[in-house]
Amino acid sequence: MRGIRLEGASASSVIAVGESLSRLNRYCDEARTIIVTDRVVKTLYGERLSGWPVIEIGAGETSKTLETVEGIYRSLLGLGVDRSFCLVGFGGGIVCDVTGFAASTYLRGLQFGFVPTTLLAQVDAAVGGKNGVNLDGYKNLIGTFTQPAFVLCDHDLLATLPEEELKNGFAEVIKEAAIADGRFFTFLEEKRQDALRLNRRVISRIVYDALAIKVAIVSADERESGERRKLNFGHTVGHAIEKVHGLSHGRAISLGIVAASRLSEAMGLMEEKDVRRIEELLSAFGLPVRYGIETGPVLDAIGKDKKREGEKIHFVLLDRIGKARTVPVTQDSLKGVIDDLRQPR
Ligand SMILES: NC(=O)c1ccc[n+]([C@@H]2O[C@H](COP(=O)([O-])OP(=O)(O)OC[C@H]3O[C@@H](n4cnc5c(N)ncnc54)[C@H](O)[C@@H]3O)[C@@H](O)[C@H]2O)c1
Repeated sequence: MRGIRLEGASASSVIAVGESLSRLNRYCDEARTIIVTDRVVKTLYGERLSGWPVIEIGAGETSKTLETVEGIYRSLLGLGVDRSFCLVGFGGGIVCDVTGFAASTYLRGLQFGFVPTTLLAQVDAAVGGKNGVNLDGYKNLIGTFTQPAFVLCDHDLLATLPEEELKNGFAEVIKEAAIADGRFFTFLEEKRQDALRLNRRVISRIVYDALAIKVAIVSADERESGERRKLNFGHTVGHAIEKVHGLSHGRAISLGIVAASRLSEAMGLMEEKDVRRIEELLSAFGLPVRYGIETGPVLDAIGKDKKREGEKIHFVLLDRIGKARTVPVTQDSLKGVIDDLRQPR
C-alpha cells in the first residue's frame, strides 16, 4: 500500500492506493459508519459489507439527482445518524459524487470517505473534493468542494468491471499523463498490455501516478480558478460529443483529447510526432481517434457548456506530452479540428 495526502481548505484526505477493503475499519469506526452503494455494486460485493449498515441507491447517471440525495437524508434520519457518524461511498464516480454531497450537507456536514470501485473513480472522481448532482440535464450543477477524510483504493474490486468502464478510466489516465508527466506517458506505452490485463503491480502504479498528478494540481488550485482547469484537457469537446452522439465518457474524451492535441499542433505548440503518440496510445487502449462527428450540434453543445466564461472558452492545449497550458479560444476556432475528427490522418 502507498499513501498520498491531499491538504484541502476544508479537510485533508488520506489516499491509500493498493489497500484492501477488508481493512476499511482502520479508516472509520464500524459502529458509527453508514455505507452508501448502488444496486450493481451491492449485488457484487454486498457480502463483503456484512456488519455495516448500507443505504442503496440506483445505478447510473439518472440516479445522480437531488431526489436520490433526499432519499439518503431520510435514511440517515431513520438510522438516527448524528454528527459523529461517517458516510462511506462504496462504488463508482456516481456513488462517490452523491455520497460526498449528501455527507457535506446533512447536519451541515458529516465526515465521509470513499472506496472507489471503478477505475475512473480510483484515478479521478474519488479524489479532489468535488461532489454533487445533476439538474435538468446539466451535469454537476449542484455541489460543494469538500474533501473526503480518506479514499481507499482496492484494485481487486476492478476485476468485475465491464470493458467499457475500464476504457472510461484509461481515457482519464492518458489525459493525466499527457498534461503533466511524460515519463508516466512512456510507462503507459510500454505497459499497455499488462494494464489491460489488470496486472496488479502495473494498475497500482497507474492509479498512484494518476492520483499524484491530480493531488498536485488540486493542492495548487482546489476551487478551479486556474491550474485545476488543466484536468479538463479533452473535456470541452469530449463532453459535447458525449452529449450529442451518446458515446461513453471514455470514447468521447478520447476524441476530445485528439481534437485538443491537433489544435495544439495547429497553433504551433506541440510537434506532430507527439500528436501521433497520443493517438497511438488511445488506440492501444481501444479508444477511438476518429468518428463521424456532426460538427454543428457539437459546436452548439460547446456553446452551452456551463464552464464557459463570456465568449471565450478556457481551452487546455499541450506544449508537449507532459506539459499543458490553458488558452482562451473562441468557439469558431474549434470548428476545423472537430471536422478533422471525421478524417483518417
Ligand atoms: N468528482 C469528480 O471530481 C469527478 C471526476 C470525474 C468524474 N466524476 C463523475 O463520475 C461519474 C462517473 O463515474 P463512473 O465512471 O465510475 O460511473 P458509475 O459510477 O456510473 O459506474 C459505472 C457502472 O459500473 C458499475 N460498477 C461500479 N463498480 C463496479 C465494479 N467493481 N464491478 C462492476 N461494475 C461496477 C456501476 O454500478 C455503474 O453501473 C460521473 O457522474 C462524473 O460526473 C466526478
